[in-house]
Amino acid sequence: MNRVACLLGSPRAGGNSDLLAKAFCDEVARNGGVVEWFPLRDLRFKGCVSLRHCKSGGETCGLKDDLNPVLEAVAAADIVVVATPIYFCNISGLFKQALDRFFSFFVPDYVTAAEPSRLGRGKAFVLVQVQGEGAERYGNLLDQYGPALDKLGFERRELIRASGVREVGDVVRHTEAMDDATSLARRLTGAA
Ligand SMILES: Cc1cc2nc3c(=O)[nH]c(=O)nc-3n(C[C@H](O)[C@H](O)[C@H](O)COP(=O)(O)O)c2cc1C
Repeated sequence: MNRVACLLGSPRAGGNSDLLAKAFCDEVARNGGVVEWFPLRDLRFKGCVSLRHCKSGGETCGLKDDLNPVLEAVAAADIVVVATPIYFCNISGLFKQALDRFFSFFVPDYVTAAEPSRLGRGKAFVLVQVQGEGAERYGNLLDQYGPALDKLGFERRELIRASGVREVGDVVRHTEAMDDATSLARRLTGAA
């Protein structure tokens, strides 16, 4: 059984990134997976404030807020899904705040350690990227975040991307992206 932690990084409920993530996660669930949903917009949390609790005796993030259960779910998941719109040429600020807290997954000597991540190496990371502009803009954000994702242990990384989507629901007409979402879900769950 695949456990999925799905982080929704758009401030807009029911928008294009939510819909594309739902297409992926619903297909995982149809193939026996269990999905936990985390709409970050509904949570009260801070980005990393460099307490360094996680590097000086603590095994987890020292900040206590609504993000702790999300971090726990990421640690327990087989597949971590993050859905984000492009905001000003990058991931949303909402997701960036959460991503900075992934720093707590690094061991104290993460700079030199052979295994820098508390997450191990077996999890898949799926980025759902939606954007108003065309596909020629921004490239693949998995490449930009590659060094961090490598260190976190996400060796398998997959992108589901829809370009030229602005209004809520535009992505539903973007059949290629919707198909990519379901076929990736089948591949990752071994159903295809
Ligand atoms: C504050 C803001 C900044 C945005 N910046 C960009 C951008 O830099 N490039 C782009 O292609 N689209 C940009 N967009 C458009 C969104 O990526 C697009 O509307 C997307 O579908 C929103 O995702 P959602 O429906 O999941 O909220 C921006 C939208 C907003 C509200």
